[in-house]
Amino acid sequence: MIYANRIRLRAAERTDIPMFVRWLNDPEVRKYLAMSLPMSQAEEEGWFDAMLRSPRPEHVLVIEAREGEEWKPIGNTSFMNINWADRHAEVGILIGEKEFWSRGYGREAMKLMLRHGFNTLNLHRVFLRVYDFNLRGIKAYEYAGFVHEGRLRQDVYRDGQYHDVLLMSVLRDEWQDSDF
Ligand SMILES: CC(C)(COP(=O)(O)OP(=O)(O)OC[C@H]1O[C@@H](n2cnc3c(N)ncnc32)[C@H](O)[C@@H]1OP(=O)(O)O)[C@@H](O)C(=O)NCCC(=O)NCCS
Repeated sequence: MIYANRIRLRAAERTDIPMFVRWLNDPEVRKYLAMSLPMSQAEEEGWFDAMLRSPRPEHVLVIEAREGEEWKPIGNTSFMNINWADRHAEVGILIGEKEFWSRGYGREAMKLMLRHGFNTLNLHRVFLRVYDFNLRGIKAYEYAGFVHEGRLRQDVYRDGQYHDVLLMSVLRDEWQDSDF
């Protein structure tokens, strides 16, 4: 487990699959993700098996929020396409339990991934892609220390319109760890 005060990250289990499917099939969640088609349990099982065969630092981690003595799964996060020569990786996140949106959990999960990426995996640069209409996400990432570095113009088509994709990143040298 990787711990902060209010959240922790744990390995994803096969029994999490129905929860992931529920999150991914919620149109309000999916509109911000790089997937636009409904997801079946069988497809997600196939994805899970492929994930288990991928390098372990890229395995999906479940974000859990502390609720008294219990921990409640609220989302997931992972590094993708880690490049060990250049020491960079893309990070992805989704909080599927919508009542947990805008309560600071997203920024804390990203801060924890940065700490894990820099202090454990010895990465040099962590970046992400976010749609320009995802104002909640952009703000969460700015709070976590990500800086804006570019814009892929009209890179994604959603709801009958093209949208820009923003690139944001944190370099190890500029990363500031904090207690949270
Ligand atoms: C994006 C996501 C990870 C952010 O996590 P979160 O816990 O909701 O975000 P945080 O609470 O840390 O920060 C959000 C900030 O944006 C603000 N915000 C929310 N909606 C907003 C809006 N429409 N416009 C501007 N700011 C907004 C919140 O009030 C909060 O700021 P505050 O603390 O100053 O009040 C989460 O909302 C999520 O997973 N959403 C669905 C899937 C998704 O977007 N995944 C990421 C794809 S790149």
